[in-house]
Amino acid sequence: MNAKNLELKTYITEEKLQEKVAEIGKALSEKFKNKKVTAVCVLKGSFMFYSDLIRHINTDITCEFFGVSSYDGKSSSGEVKVTLDLSTAIEGQHVILIEDIVDTGLTMNYLRKSIESRNPASLTTVSLLEKPEALKVPCKLDYVGFKIINEFVVGYGLDYNGYFRNLPYIAQVQNFQ
Ligand code: IMP
Repeated sequence: MNAKNLELKTYITEEKLQEKVAEIGKALSEKFKNKKVTAVCVLKGSFMFYSDLIRHINTDITCEFFGVSSYDGKSSSGEVKVTLDLSTAIEGQHVILIEDIVDTGLTMNYLRKSIESRNPASLTTVSLLEKPEALKVPCKLDYVGFKIINEFVVGYGLDYNGYFRNLPYIAQVQNFQ
């Protein structure tokens, strides 16, 4: 039990997460060998995945942060609100967009359109998790860490009402009312 009186069950261990992060980092290092990239962190959920992943990308990187919110408790509101926009122009740059999870796909679609409208040289999308059964709009991802069941998960940056982002693993919440 914890501060929110919820029971958590480990779903993806810290070790498995780190293995996958290294694997995606290696693939991105090969793809962007000798190129400069702008890595965009989608706040808040992807901050932990992002900071681990960029340490495995072996090329020149600048960091940007894009804050969006669409979740209310444990369901998507369907409406994407921008809480923090990029701080620099990305025109002509190779952009890697790094998300924590694709659920309905609405946020990723919104982000893709927003980034593409700024004319980057290329856009590569990465999500640590994807819930294929929850997709409401088609969503093209270049790299996905794990395809998961259509259940609410927390940890490794993902929250429930602001909590559990600090867990080093992904957990399923057992006793939602
Ligand atoms: P989408 O727009 O429905 O694809 O939702 C994307 C956003 O919803 C993610 O960036 C997360 O912040 C949040 N989200 C979706 N599923 C979960 C979950 O299982 N746990 C925690 N947050 C989630």
